Amino acid sequence: MGRRFLSAVALAAVGAGLAQGSAQAQAPSSAPVDMTAAQARADQTVKAMQPDERTTLTHGIMAIQLFPGAPPIPADAVPGAGYIAGLPRLGVPALKETDASLGVAWVSGARKRGATALPSGIAQAASWDPAVMQAGGAMIGAEARASGFNVLLAGGVNLTRDPRNGRTFEYLSEDPLLSGMLVGAAIRGIQSNNIISTIKHFALNGQETGRQFVDIQIGNAAARESDLLAFQIGIEQGQPGSVMCAYNRVNGNRACDNSWLLNTVLKRDWGYKGFVMSDWGAVPGLDAAMAGLDQQSGEQLDKAVYFGSKLAEKAATDKAWAARLADMNRRVLTAIYATGVDKNPVTPGGQWDAAAHAAVAEQTAIAGMVLLRNQNNALPLLRDAKSVAVIGGYADGGVLSGGGSSQVQGDGGPVVSRPVLAGGMFAGIMQQQFHRSSPLDAIKARVPQAAIHFRDGRYIADAVEAARRSDVAIVFATEWRTEGLDQPDLSLPDGQDALIAAVAAANPRTIVVLETGGPVAMPWLDQTAAVLEAWYPGARGGEAIAKVLFGEANPGGRLPVTFPASVAQLPRPKLDGSDTLDPDFMGNPPTPTTTLKADYNIEGSDVGYRWFARTGAKPLFPFGYGLSYTSFAQDGLSVDGKTARFTLRNTGKVAGDDVGQVYLVDRAGTAKRRLVGFARVHLAPGESRTVSVTIDQRLLADWRDDGKGSGGWTLPAGNYGFALGSDAQTLGQVVTVRLAARNWKD
Ligand code: BGC
Repeated sequence: MGRRFLSAVALAAVGAGLAQGSAQAQAPSSAPVDMTAAQARADQTVKAMQPDERTTLTHGIMAIQLFPGAPPIPADAVPGAGYIAGLPRLGVPALKETDASLGVAWVSGARKRGATALPSGIAQAASWDPAVMQAGGAMIGAEARASGFNVLLAGGVNLTRDPRNGRTFEYLSEDPLLSGMLVGAAIRGIQSNNIISTIKHFALNGQETGRQFVDIQIGNAAARESDLLAFQIGIEQGQPGSVMCAYNRVNGNRACDNSWLLNTVLKRDWGYKGFVMSDWGAVPGLDAAMAGLDQQSGEQLDKAVYFGSKLAEKAATDKAWAARLADMNRRVLTAIYATGVDKNPVTPGGQWDAAAHAAVAEQTAIAGMVLLRNQNNALPLLRDAKSVAVIGGYADGGVLSGGGSSQVQGDGGPVVSRPVLAGGMFAGIMQQQFHRSSPLDAIKARVPQAAIHFRDGRYIADAVEAARRSDVAIVFATEWRTEGLDQPDLSLPDGQDALIAAVAAANPRTIVVLETGGPVAMPWLDQTAAVLEAWYPGARGGEAIAKVLFGEANPGGRLPVTFPASVAQLPRPKLDGSDTLDPDFMGNPPTPTTTLKADYNIEGSDVGYRWFARTGAKPLFPFGYGLSYTSFAQDGLSVDGKTARFTLRNTGKVAGDDVGQVYLVDRAGTAKRRLVGFARVHLAPGESRTVSVTIDQRLLADWRDDGKGSGGWTLPAGNYGFALGSDAQTLGQVVTVRLAARNWKD
């Protein structure tokens, strides 16, 4: 079968690059930036500031002309998400900000040059590999620097509490350890370019519907053990210069005006020394400064510029405000000095190695592809096919990307762009855009002798006809997501479920390639021969998909989120607000008195697979799941409470990557399910490797709240059961270790 077409060389090359460092997935990495030393220098600069200089770094504009007639942006600003003026007298550079989670974002056509688009965040996370994240971050940071940006609004790490969240594609996973380790690595990569990275959106930004006013209800302990833990680990691992607070409310207060989140958790308990910037249009008033917000971003989107003259006036007459203002400046300067932004000025018009960067995007795409089904080794495809039907998904043009502020455009712009909004301020980022990387072309190049029957999939009848007279049918299915809107359910839009079912009925060798922003339902699953989740695969997505389909690369991605069988299995089968609010990009309340609550206490910290373990529901595909063109054996788990060791072996005939996953399954007689360690390892046929991972003690513990919003971690005495798994529901023998009781602060 098709295995003979696998290129061992290609697999080894891709795998070796990606596996390096994987075995240390849990090892704390040395901080790339030294915030403490920078803070001392920042103190000196703050002392040297004149009163009229003290509110320069505390606020800034969105650096695009939002409407005709609006004031032009400053001459030294680069068109992008944000601009904060500098203080040349004190050697403090202006901060030039761009969105950058998936690449340097394209803004309103204002910049001539395109950028390299990485695959979506969830695709990156499906690599389960910090090394992949770091390489991607380093690439983005280099392009940002060469484009004149020194602050990147990257690092989206909100947990996937609801698979319908429109920004699921931008975020990473449903698990705090996986998300935290991966975002930390991406931030390290970005900041290795002497620029500031941001972690966002702090916190509990779990849905887009009503995002400006939805009030997340959650207990302190549940928050600390889940969403906040992802941020905490990410900050420890990446040392980002800034944190962006979120739009939503948390237990009543706006996240950017939330003293518990910003002062108590972030700054006091975690000792965070960088600065908190607002999300764009998320500042309700001047008092947010006292709640811990350090910088007002995109101020045209707020009702007023609060952190300029209004703040200066307050600080001139009130000592507490003066001290707060000094701290705000100190924090912004600490980030600038710690990352070296001042000593390594950015200038637009720089160059980068486009081919090398495209290769990073391609390798990331390959690393994150998840093979969900492969009946009778339908994949990899044979190169001697006589006829291939390629159907749907604009596969003749390119690969899908997600919408909103993270949208990246390559040189020449998108190959296909389907507008979603006819006009208005956000029309430019509310379009279904396809990167210029055609899967059809990449497939054709691999089977030049074959008759290729391409159908766009708009009509089922001609797609079925093409499938019927082909050796194999490959259906490309797309599911577009965007910032600002949630998905109504888990179905594929535009009748694609019916299309796939009809094609699969016509040709038993039907391969489905999914380009989705998150989990989708698959009512046609049992009829298909194979399903490959390619996510939004970025600038070289077409090539990456073809390499995996034809076995030049072996898929090694694992699901970073659970794929539910239906929305009925979720903690909130109805997404809050979906039945009362009309779609609105900014998510503002339709009337000043409209309120909306989302109760996260239902699942508490049992997000994703932990909820499924608690309810016993059987998902479509579990967290951590993914197949390979080879087979693996996992055994030899030993745990001492602080570390876990295990052995992964390639028992098949081709090289491939396995991901060992260690779960806590039982604690002192109570069933639990928590990922406590993982490692992605590249293995040649017959090779085995023993891997050791550190167990973060917080993952074994519970948060004990002191009733004042703070508290500490508590570990009950007892037997702790661990299991090694190939996913969250396929677990090996339980290994038990007795642990003593312990309490500690953060
Ligand atoms: C998004 C942020 C983004 C900002 C600036 C907001 O709408 O929520 O993620 O960084 O815009 O573009």
